[in-house]
Amino acid sequence: MEKKPAKLLILYATQTGNALDAAERIGREAERRGCAASVSSTDDFDASSLPHEDTVIFVVSTTGQGDTPDSMKLFWKYLLQRNIAKNWLEGVHYAVFGLGDSGYQKYNFVAKKLDRRISYLGATAIVERGLGDDQHPSGYEGALDPWMSSLWIMLYQINPKFFPNGPDFVISDTTHIDQPKFQITYLETDKVDLQSSSATGLDSVQMQIGRARSMSPGKVSHIKNIPDCFLKMIKNQPLSRTGCGKDVRHLELEFVSATIEYGVGDVLEVLPGQDPAAVDAFLQRCNLNPESLIIVHPIGMESHHRDAEGNDSNVPIKLKTFVELTMDIASASPRRYFFEARMLYVMSIFATAEHEKERLQYFASPEGRDDLYQYNQKERRTVLEVLEDFPSVQMPFEWLVQLVPPLKTRAFSISSSPSAHPNQVHLTVNVVSWTTPFKRKRTGLCSTWLAGLDPQDGVCIPAWFRKGSLPPPPASIPLVLVGPGTGCAPFRGFVEERATQDMSGSAAPIMLFFGCRNEENDFLYKDFWLFHAQNAGPLSMARGGGFFVAFSRDQPQKVYVQHKMREQSERVWGLILEGASIYVSGSSTKMPSDVMSALEEIISKEAGVSRETAVLQLRRLEKDGRYHVEAWS
Ligand code: 2AM
Repeated sequence: MEKKPAKLLILYATQTGNALDAAERIGREAERRGCAASVSSTDDFDASSLPHEDTVIFVVSTTGQGDTPDSMKLFWKYLLQRNIAKNWLEGVHYAVFGLGDSGYQKYNFVAKKLDRRISYLGATAIVERGLGDDQHPSGYEGALDPWMSSLWIMLYQINPKFFPNGPDFVISDTTHIDQPKFQITYLETDKVDLQSSSATGLDSVQMQIGRARSMSPGKVSHIKNIPDCFLKMIKNQPLSRTGCGKDVRHLELEFVSATIEYGVGDVLEVLPGQDPAAVDAFLQRCNLNPESLIIVHPIGMESHHRDAEGNDSNVPIKLKTFVELTMDIASASPRRYFFEARMLYVMSIFATAEHEKERLQYFASPEGRDDLYQYNQKERRTVLEVLEDFPSVQMPFEWLVQLVPPLKTRAFSISSSPSAHPNQVHLTVNVVSWTTPFKRKRTGLCSTWLAGLDPQDGVCIPAWFRKGSLPPPPASIPLVLVGPGTGCAPFRGFVEERATQDMSGSAAPIMLFFGCRNEENDFLYKDFWLFHAQNAGPLSMARGGGFFVAFSRDQPQKVYVQHKMREQSERVWGLILEGASIYVSGSSTKMPSDVMSALEEIISKEAGVSRETAVLQLRRLEKDGRYHVEAWS
């Protein structure tokens, strides 16, 4: 088989962008050692051509309960085909680096199964797989650095041509001048035939979003570029007491365009609006003409093409619109060290004040790593703030589009049932805010934007739907739901759905365990739960269900959902025996494992079996699709 010349192919599968970050970093480190590398997403790569590759590095993250990222699903399906020969990948060298969280039972499951499969298909491992862990004090990078060191050494042993100057020779980041990988074509306003001009109103906005996202260099998301729909807010109601230190909202959104069918437990992805004042400040700071008509394209790809969704790469967009829709200029989202260091390094090239240049070079160097962490990661400075800290830097727009982090959509569990609210989608949103060590007040971009919308204003929210990791339960299956805090969001939808199914009398009961800090402050949806716990509702004891709430801070000792579960041991076990499915959802990394221990205890006590047997029984439930967890931190 004809092989491509010695070059690294780095294939990543990412859900939130971390695996892309790690893949880019590996590619960059290889290039600094003189080794050619290309980085590609698994969904942009034709899996059937894998045997033609010489050396492939996989960088894959594990999501949810051991799930493959959406962007890897097709690739993985291809690898699992039965008719692939056992020696299909003979002669290919490979290495796997996984990103996961050891707080989860299926820690780095995707990396492990990919490693096994690639090896089974005949490829030769270069080094033992590396496993990055979110629980490590420096995140996945704690494992990435040592793993890369062994990778370079082993690659050199396999083929010295990878590193003409040896694996230890590294071109310093501060002397190596990059070139931007993207190019901007400016069009003269009066000569442009804006092909979208026939579209009006929302259609035109939808097309612009699709076009801007398809041109954006920073695409990490697996969702389509064009939004599925627009939603308008019709209710924005606080669920927590004002001034209690928490701000949780119940938001009711209504379809503006055609209704999209969704299921309970699905997820809504929202493209947040950016503060117009911040956009203007950025344009001014960077000396950009907001009215310029631009086309952004990778260098060498000037020719006319359409993406898979039909977005035409040759239709220009207003510079200001492009910035608004794709460049995250004012949010305090965490940016990764590698991207951060690269941005500051490129800024150093354009700094004209010597002291700024020096400081930027220091931040971008390995020695400045700790100080960069203090300066940026801890303080979560926005791009705009960083640019304002170094006023002598004037970066060309080519660089900015590549270095400013992409504006990402944010995902929310849907908290309504479409049967109960046709034409609407409800969200339960925790409005994120915190104070940095230097007392800067920070807020989450999307939640703050949504919470600030007034239903009177009629703002249209671009949104996408996707399946959540909690599959919707059939009406005949009893449920044990555990959802402290905003983890209860999907369960509000479950209960609503079952209340509508109840009409026929065939719906099975639900036991719901909810937890919050105080009865007075953050008892989310109190009236809703209590209503459905009466009148033969799905949560009523009379029907075999129940609603149980743990107030963690209303007494000297903490009371959590798992304590309430233990108190209801017999009933929980009774429902499991009746075939119940268990769903756990919440914004705490420790809660799922605490709840799991409580369940093991319950099974052991009620079934009269050893703890080991109870553990196996719970695993069995998980294998049978009767135990689901969705947690986020
Ligand atoms: P705390 O903040 O008082 O510790 C929603 O966030 C609720 O989940 C809060 O009442 C919070 O309690 C609680 N919580 C925090 N850690 C938990 C854990 N490990 N298990 C269950 N509930 C937890």
